Amino acid sequence: MAGLTKASLPPRLFRDIRNRGAAVCVMLYEDGIVARETPKLLAVLAPEERARHDRMATSERRNEYLVGRLLIRTVLSVLLDVPCAQVPLLIDSRGRPHVACRAPLAYDISLSHSRGYAVLGVTKAGRIGVDIEATFDGDYALVRRFLASEELAGLLALPQVQRSAALARAWVIKEAWSKALGFGLGVPFRNLNTALRTEGCSGRVRWRIIDGSTVPTACAIASDELTPPSMPRFAIPVNLERLSGAAR
Ligand SMILES: CC(C)(COP(=O)(O)OP(=O)(O)OC[C@H]1O[C@@H](n2cnc3c(N)ncnc32)[C@H](O)[C@@H]1OP(=O)(O)O)[C@@H](O)C(=O)NCCC(=O)NCCS
Repeated sequence: MAGLTKASLPPRLFRDIRNRGAAVCVMLYEDGIVARETPKLLAVLAPEERARHDRMATSERRNEYLVGRLLIRTVLSVLLDVPCAQVPLLIDSRGRPHVACRAPLAYDISLSHSRGYAVLGVTKAGRIGVDIEATFDGDYALVRRFLASEELAGLLALPQVQRSAALARAWVIKEAWSKALGFGLGVPFRNLNTALRTEGCSGRVRWRIIDGSTVPTACAIASDELTPPSMPRFAIPVNLERLSGAAR
């Protein structure tokens, strides 16, 4: 089984990882195509990933999981120079994916998916977190639980029409921050005060909204050396039929 070739992915993605130390790429997919190609695409996954996929309750969840694994495995297969199926991809006890390799191949990764978008962050130094939200309804009861008091005051001071977008940005930043830390939803989101800004830092974790995305997307990096990338490098309109062909 051959991995995807470097030519199948945007070369700047790999240049950015090499030269800047980190990159984020966004992939678009259609549920119908994933469903149709599932039997072939599953061949790239490890047996335990296939079993996990099969246990998932809805077709949307199965699709996003499958696409996420393919995206991670495809990019890492190029970085590690191994076939997709041989990328040593594990998850920790909290569900955080990681690559079982030592320096200089010790890449850290983070994944997010939302309604046909899959986002992958990769870094060579420190820990990375990414989040994307294609739909965000801004439930007030939820807001009170996750916003710092300064954020809530800032939100209420905004014109009504700007609140939903500001809230979505704050949410994706907090999720990216918690993923970089590896806590998932277990972290008290109120502890991060974004001041509704699009970039900032909290301790060692630097975060920013990624410009040029059509939906709210954030990246956070816990590193003494790196800042999060400002642009997704790059939207990958992956042809899943071609991908499954390459995986055979
Ligand atoms: C991480 C989390 C907040 C993401 O939720 P979400 O916004 O609904 O979904 P996203 O698409 O943005 O991210 C999901 C991806 O984040 C990654 N992820 C899961 N847990 C993670 C964690 N603790 N830290 C970092 N990333 C995590 C996974 O790759 C997951 O995708 P996959 O399951 O398809 O591989 C949520 O899954 C969570 O809280 N998980 C932690 C659960 C936990 O703490 N369990 C403890 C068990 S003892």
